[in-house]
Amino acid sequence: MTAVERQAVHREAASGSDLLTRAASSKLTQQAFGYWQSGALFELLSSGLVDRLDGTSSGEQLAHECGLHPEGTLALLRAAQAMGLVAPAGTGWALAPAVEPFLDPGSPTSLRHWFAVMDRWREPWSSLSTTLKSAEGGGGSARLETDPAYVRDFIIGMHEFARLSSNAVIDAVRDAFPAPGAQDTLLDVGGGAGTYAIAALLAAPDATGTVLDHPDVVPLCDEIARHEGVADRLSAVAGDYRGSYGDRRYGTVLLSNVLHQEDDDNAVAMLRESRRVTRPGGHVVVHTHLSGGQRPKLFPALQGVSAFVLWSGGAGMTEERLHNLLSAAELKAARISTVRDSGTTIAVCPV
Ligand SMILES: C[S@@+](CC[C@H](N)C(=O)[O-])C[C@H]1O[C@@H](n2cnc3c(N)ncnc32)[C@H](O)[C@@H]1O
Repeated sequence: MTAVERQAVHREAASGSDLLTRAASSKLTQQAFGYWQSGALFELLSSGLVDRLDGTSSGEQLAHECGLHPEGTLALLRAAQAMGLVAPAGTGWALAPAVEPFLDPGSPTSLRHWFAVMDRWREPWSSLSTTLKSAEGGGGSARLETDPAYVRDFIIGMHEFARLSSNAVIDAVRDAFPAPGAQDTLLDVGGGAGTYAIAALLAAPDATGTVLDHPDVVPLCDEIARHEGVADRLSAVAGDYRGSYGDRRYGTVLLSNVLHQEDDDNAVAMLRESRRVTRPGGHVVVHTHLSGGQRPKLFPALQGVSAFVLWSGGAGMTEERLHNLLSAAELKAARISTVRDSGTTIAVCPV
């Protein structure tokens, strides 16, 4: 662009007359104060206000009950109303019906733990600038991971988010998972609450599965497996996924949303180990957010930044990186497909 053309664009922006220019400035403005919105949402949740919105208590009463500043609370409620989270109702305030299924902790689609994790990650994100300048990179979740309440929020939060589309993900690669009636077995590496293993086992009532994860995660996976009625077929095993996966052989080894947490050496070692414990005729399945090449998609691209601040060696996943990792592990994807419901990508590698 020449200097004259640039000046014309600046003039256009200053007058705000062009629709595209106005849309660009509005998008930029939204991005600049996006953290105001997440701050208001997280405070609504963590202050306990959200659980007292029964349509009877006024803003002042709510502030008193939660031990908050009355005027600040009213400002927060008005902001939450403008964001479509709450609405005046009866003699007080209530949750907006559209968000109730996600903010009511008793709802089967509740995302409360997931929001709590996003709230906790604000601290590592706030050190992005320092992390970028350091030679070692991230590791900002290490301190959080020693807190059992964080581990619970993280594991249950990932489950809340993943279960919204786990059936669609498994359906998209049905042939790589145990078939209905087959007595096959699968290994879910870093499976957390076992969300995808559970979806796969519910679709194949004779199959069994193992989730490999940190010792602190095992009881949480057991709890979810019991809740989903698959405790007799899904066992959670404590272990380090950077080490050995044992002597058994599996029909499917799933690596779902774990490789972005690791550097290339660890990720290749994990893929090799997955190949080793897959029986001939079985599959290694990689499930990940892929940020695309020339035109990155917003969530996976930001996830790359998040992985960088949170986990030492974490780097997000691009198409090119996935191909390089698979080929370094001597795996070849028979197909790579995107799941519409989740926007995630699955690579199916026959062994
Ligand atoms: C982003 S979660 C993904 C959970 C699940 N696979 C999914 O797709 O929803 C990452 C998982 O990796 C586990 N993890 C991280 N480092 C690990 C390690 N060194 N050994 C075993 N599991 C690990 C975490 O505890 C967590 O359950």
